[in-house]
Amino acid sequence: MKRVYFLLAITAFGMNAFGQKTIDQKVSELLSKMTLEEKVGQLVQYSGFEYATGPQNSNSANVLNEIKQGKVGSMLNVAGAGETRKFQELALQSRLRIPLLFGQDVIHGYRTTFPVNLGQAASWDLGLIEKSERIAATEASAYGIHWTFAPMVDVARDPRWGRVMEGSGEDTYLGTQIGLARIRGFQGKGLGNLDAIMACAKHFAAYGAAVGGRDYNSVDMSLRQLNETYLPPFKAAAEAGVATFMNSFNDINGIPATANKYILRDLLKGKWNFKGFVVSDWGSIGEMVPHGYAKDNKEAAEKAILAGSDMDMESRAYMAELPKLVQEGKVDPKFIDDAARRILVKKFEMGLFDDPYRFSNEKRQKEQTNNQENRKFGREFGSKSIVLLKNEKNILPLSRSTKTIALIGPFGKETSANHGFWSVAFKDDSQRIVTQFDGIKNQLDKNSTLLYAKGANVDDQDGSMFAEAVETAKKADVVIMTLGEGHAMSGEAKSRSNIHFSGVQEELLKEVAKTGKPIVLMINAGRPLVFDWAADNIPAIMYTWWLGTEAGNSIADVLFGTVNPGGKLPMTFPRTEGQIPVYYNHYNTGRPAKNNTDRNYVSAYIDLDNDPKFPFGYGLSYTQFKYADMNLSSLNLKGNQTLKIGINITNSGNYDGEEVVQLYIRDLFGKVVRPVKELKGFQKVFIKKGETKTVSFTLTPEDLKFYDDELNFDWEGGEFDIMVGTNSQDVQTKRINWLK
Ligand code: GLC
Repeated sequence: MKRVYFLLAITAFGMNAFGQKTIDQKVSELLSKMTLEEKVGQLVQYSGFEYATGPQNSNSANVLNEIKQGKVGSMLNVAGAGETRKFQELALQSRLRIPLLFGQDVIHGYRTTFPVNLGQAASWDLGLIEKSERIAATEASAYGIHWTFAPMVDVARDPRWGRVMEGSGEDTYLGTQIGLARIRGFQGKGLGNLDAIMACAKHFAAYGAAVGGRDYNSVDMSLRQLNETYLPPFKAAAEAGVATFMNSFNDINGIPATANKYILRDLLKGKWNFKGFVVSDWGSIGEMVPHGYAKDNKEAAEKAILAGSDMDMESRAYMAELPKLVQEGKVDPKFIDDAARRILVKKFEMGLFDDPYRFSNEKRQKEQTNNQENRKFGREFGSKSIVLLKNEKNILPLSRSTKTIALIGPFGKETSANHGFWSVAFKDDSQRIVTQFDGIKNQLDKNSTLLYAKGANVDDQDGSMFAEAVETAKKADVVIMTLGEGHAMSGEAKSRSNIHFSGVQEELLKEVAKTGKPIVLMINAGRPLVFDWAADNIPAIMYTWWLGTEAGNSIADVLFGTVNPGGKLPMTFPRTEGQIPVYYNHYNTGRPAKNNTDRNYVSAYIDLDNDPKFPFGYGLSYTQFKYADMNLSSLNLKGNQTLKIGINITNSGNYDGEEVVQLYIRDLFGKVVRPVKELKGFQKVFIKKGETKTVSFTLTPEDLKFYDDELNFDWEGGEFDIMVGTNSQDVQTKRINWLK
């Protein structure tokens, strides 16, 4: 009993069981010494000067002085063991020697880059995704980075929005699982480990639902839809211990996310009990003035801090206005203390007070500069992210001894484009990238020939290279076309109203197709594109996204069959822009179309077929998988039981391969209408040719819950369709009754 009292006593004094001060105690002691300006300083973040990831308005001279005066808590876009050490030395000249946090956008790899995140999602491989972030964290921390502004967990149903490239697509369940895998990868064995970096769930919230797919645009939806579709990945991230959140630029139902008490105070720091801190997205506190929600930076700062935005990235509103707001009694100092506490706790957890330079280590950085193991993984991850959309007459895989292959298109010899949009620039990078041309050449037999013609630029009307491309095609036995959108045509502030191939790429494809040569089309993009003619006329098509440092090797591994593609689309591909938004988990409506061409007084366009071009979850293989013998543990359940689902998958083709088996449900009747399908599980299984594997899933009432019109999160008894399949359209269905 004495031990209990002893523990209670020391805990009361903020000591742990070993009599050491807890972090909370240390933070309390530090806060008690800090002036108001010093506390506000912890809430300030500036960008470095080498490159900005937003409209920069802070100048270097001021910032360096403010760091020395303890008026800056964090820097972003400062990287490198040497560079971070320099800035840290400035911070340690401040009165209380509080170290800086260094943040950066480590979005799809760092020194070794990996597929853009939508491509990663197409792998449906949580293990690979987690491992890629583990590698990214190891490399980034060696470059002095403490904190990544990732994972972006914004559900997005509109491919016109350029930032779909850095998310996990349209599905809440898939996006949640991937977000959690990424946080596990980044934070590893926990903050304080030298290879662990703080993750950041962003952009909070519903940034992917911007009207018209136009970046930074408004979001307006029911709280039911917000809670059902867009918030679950964030709730899961908070519950999983993500270190930080970043709010989004958009307003939600008329209130900018940066000052939206409902999501920040009521949900995140209230119901979800989040103990980390929230950083505003670049300048978004100050942007409440153009939003028309604050008349000036002072009102913006007041609204943001009261709502729960802890750190001010690059708007300079907090440093300039918060001390005045406190002195005028408009902001209770407890809000400043709470925000500063949250940030200081993380600095202690990262071990920065023990050793502010522990991440700024030149030797470690050198070891991580060209890690061959990481590149080998990147090659595998790239090949597993590729989605095979068509393969008529089994043109693919190609033979390495094909006499002459022509690679035609603007991306064939691209280097840094393979990094995709969100990659940190390193000077020596271009010679480290494996181009598509090199990747293919590396694998061709020595007496085979690889020809190349650019054929067209990415986005202009210049057709002068067509003739050369056609002549090149005529000399070949097989033509590989590499078309799509430039790597910087998706990403932030890259919304597109027209998501066809840009420029005259489609015209080039048609000219080359006239030669009658067998064509394999590779599509490079960070989003779903519209390519109706190609989809209908080109026999073999694979979606190669932007695959990172090892892109050329990943692509060649699939082209020549070293890797049998197993990717599945994480977003629906529309037939045309006019069909957007189109997504698989839609409601049925009172007049659902009966089939793809039904237009008779139903919810359809009179000028377009109803199905998307390629559905969510779609992807082919070089082999074939047969689904059979679906069985359920019961067709009638009651209360808190578990439903077991099993199905046999046979690899009936000529290649070993991986298949993503998908589990969907449909709740046929509810107190609010329910989607026609909801993804509730998936398993990626490797099956040798000729073999059969049984894949099993379980469902409980927890999986059936949804938000009703009063925001109650519960399930209802009734009839459900249970579906298992190779994509969201081709499924086997059994109906059950599950009473409450
Ligand atoms: C950008 C992005 C955000 C990024 C931040 C820092 O504006 O919206 O995702 O993390 O600024 O670069």
